[in-house]
Amino acid sequence: MNRRFFLKLILSVPVLGALALFISPFVRFLRPTVGPITQTGLKTGKGLQDFETWNGKGGLFTPPDMPERESDVSFDLSEFPSPWSFKTFTFGQKSREYSFKQFQSIRIPGFVVRLPGTDEGGMPKFIAVSRICPHMGCVFNFIDKEKAVEYNYHQAENNLFACPCHLSVFDPLRDQNVDGERKLGKVVSGPAPRPPRSFEKTIENGKLIITAVEAGGIS
Ligand code: FES
Repeated sequence: MNRRFFLKLILSVPVLGALALFISPFVRFLRPTVGPITQTGLKTGKGLQDFETWNGKGGLFTPPDMPERESDVSFDLSEFPSPWSFKTFTFGQKSREYSFKQFQSIRIPGFVVRLPGTDEGGMPKFIAVSRICPHMGCVFNFIDKEKAVEYNYHQAENNLFACPCHLSVFDPLRDQNVDGERKLGKVVSGPAPRPPRSFEKTIENGKLIITAVEAGGIS
């Protein structure tokens, strides 16, 4: 290696470095931040870890992204000793989002109320609903029937869900047709267009478990 070649080599290092710095943003721009859509995580149903395992397998021909629960909410049946016993809870749900964080987390407030009577198997009956009013999204209350007049409803025969914003009242014992399906929580007064969104629930080993919320938005 002669002296001239050596000097050229030394001088070319900063030139090549500057060129690499100039080109690298364009190369980075061409590389996707988030992998293609995949449903790997939904099959295992384990919340956040599932989102982290979504690593680009599956490609374009996969089912649409669906919200996923963060964890089950469960109650001991002994917490509902008599009809109209109730509990409040919040249900965590994650939705896939194409951002740095990769998901959006929401907390949905709910009521679970023991209803009078039992089902065919002799188990107590329950209603579990989102507390977010289907009218304009206020959080509604569960009230004694004597309080219904304060919500402009004068024919109350049992306890009710009632919204303080525009006085919608929902009857947990009566159902209403929503898109061909009977839903408990009929609107008996006020402007709400439908019963509150319901939660899916099961009873296992003396526990009431809330597993999912009705699809289609939170209110
Ligand atoms: S938001 Fe509940 S009645 Fe309007």
